[in-house]
Amino acid sequence: MTKYKSVGTSWRTVMKHTAMTTFITREFNAGNHIPWIGRFCITDLTAGDGSSAYDAPWHTSCSPGIIASLALTSRKPVVIDLYERDQETYDTLISNLAKRLPVLGYQRTADDRWRYEGIWLRASRQDGREASIDHLAQSHQDAVLILNDPNLITDWAMRPGFMSEVLTAGTRFGGRGKVKGFRVMHTLGCNVGGAKRAPFQRDAQALPDDDLRTMDLTERRNWFNLIEEQCAHLPARHDLALAAFENDPAQWAYLFTTPRLPRWYADTEADIRAAFKAVGRTGEIAFYRRDNNRFERLKNRLLLTKTELAERESPQLPFEPSGDENAATHLLTAPTAST
Ligand SMILES: C[S@@+](CC[C@H](N)C(=O)[O-])C[C@H]1O[C@@H](n2cnc3c(N)ncnc32)[C@H](O)[C@@H]1O
Repeated sequence: MTKYKSVGTSWRTVMKHTAMTTFITREFNAGNHIPWIGRFCITDLTAGDGSSAYDAPWHTSCSPGIIASLALTSRKPVVIDLYERDQETYDTLISNLAKRLPVLGYQRTADDRWRYEGIWLRASRQDGREASIDHLAQSHQDAVLILNDPNLITDWAMRPGFMSEVLTAGTRFGGRGKVKGFRVMHTLGCNVGGAKRAPFQRDAQALPDDDLRTMDLTERRNWFNLIEEQCAHLPARHDLALAAFENDPAQWAYLFTTPRLPRWYADTEADIRAAFKAVGRTGEIAFYRRDNNRFERLKNRLLLTKTELAERESPQLPFEPSGDENAATHLLTAPTAST
């Protein structure tokens, strides 16, 4: 909880909530008019305590408030799942929901459940990596939206394989339902508290049990796998926007799925730029499919140290007269942190 508060009051949080609000607003605005979408399913893997993170109305300043209030604009049923793993934070979340949701019109139906007409909201004190997808695509045509907003990239709350589990959810029920839309917003706190001091890889040589280490996020090389999984399971009709603050020592960045349509590209970019502007900052945005080279450069800037980045962008050959015969092997070893 204390960790969350220490990052929760910054301009970065205001930017995040501004971007999150437009990201979810567009889901309802579009989905309300798409006939093949029957229901919205929103899962927040990292709900936090449901307190306003700064001086602003509740429904704009924490993810549970943003989701619960925007759900009221839906013309279709909505299922909202909020996951929070920390007990104390979860207890505060429940008391905040109990206080705030009735003001929006929700009624409490159980200790951890609320309902407003066709909207069902439930909270779980559980790790987001264990999030259930059992309700998806059972008999509805679901538009799924996932928020993954950990304090640090090392707390990534989406389990490996989750993307493909969601995309194939309908096959479990003989095709009665389908996942008809799937958008995700991730927060990447790449150098919060100097997180990039983590070794790129603990051993220069891959160990025999390398597969077992692929999700060990204390090795920075595995941060690449997190983004790689998003890219690998990106439906053909989607693209992935990577957006990062400029001149931010903590190197906060965000990943947003967006449809590959000219209007969506323009809107996504405009929304993200407006969110940066709202806090008086600028940022860089690159799309995985549309501008892959820029996307890779931005990703490397976020995940590699300055030394590693320089080596990757202009690798020295071992036989160059630099005096450093090990230059090529540096690409694989753990450098000292200069972020
Ligand atoms: C940055 S805060 C979330 C803020 C919230 N999304 C908001 O915008 O108001 C991160 C929260 O995620 C929780 N968290 C971190 N890892 C988690 C995990 N694997 N599963 C569930 N909750 C997690 C932390 O306890 C913390 O409360």
